[in-house]
Amino acid sequence: MKMNNEIVLETQSLTKIFHGARGDVTALDDVSFSIPEGKTLALVGESGSGKTTAARLVLGLETQNSGTVSVLGKDLSSLNKKELRNLRRSIQVVQQNPYSQLNRRHSVQRIVETPLLAFNEGSAIQRRDKVVDLLESVGLDSAYLNRRPHELSGGQCQRVAIARALAIDPKIVVLDEAVLRLQLCFVEKL
Ligand SMILES: Nc1ncnc2c1ncn2[C@@H]1O[C@H](COP(=O)(O)OP(=O)(O)OP(=O)(O)O)[C@@H](O)[C@H]1O
Ligand SMILES: [Mg+2]
Repeated sequence: MKMNNEIVLETQSLTKIFHGARGDVTALDDVSFSIPEGKTLALVGESGSGKTTAARLVLGLETQNSGTVSVLGKDLSSLNKKELRNLRRSIQVVQQNPYSQLNRRHSVQRIVETPLLAFNEGSAIQRRDKVVDLLESVGLDSAYLNRRPHELSGGQCQRVAIARALAIDPKIVVLDEAVLRLQLCFVEKL
């Protein structure tokens, strides 16, 4: 049996500086953390403190100025394109903005099955069954299969994004504020 203490995600002394029109912004300064298998790490901080930047570095969507990111024991910066693509199977993301992360021209069915299509998994029928199961696991029934993002609430968009992130059984899920702050702000204003 596998030990439950394998480190699946580790950063060491990450620094990220953005060079903007109004000068440099140090988004991350010497950030280190490690997450063992089966554990959850929450990054908490005020707006602009670098949470999304940390997520983007871990996903390989942005490059750090210094420091390292290791995913499943592999240093991201040492991987070639093919190796990075293979690693994409293991690490999925739910982004901060519920609307912009979903293709508005696609149905919920198509959105959730995207990772299965990308990795060539299952027949059309198997994929549909899997999508129905995934939607159920996030509290949506099959009536939503043919809806498009604009026909969903913000929370439902977020659930669809979570279902998609889980579609290929990733080892790591990066949730950038999976609970909707915008929705909460809106409710507070009512
Ligand atoms: N592409 C960019 N170019 C320039 N500055 C950026 C860029 N992306 C982020 N920043 C800056 O880096 C800092 C960290 O931003 P980041 O998005 O990581 O914050 P956050 O903690 O996710 O904030 P929030 O809670 O509002 O989502 C901010 O000061 C932001 O303005
Ligand atoms: Mg953010």
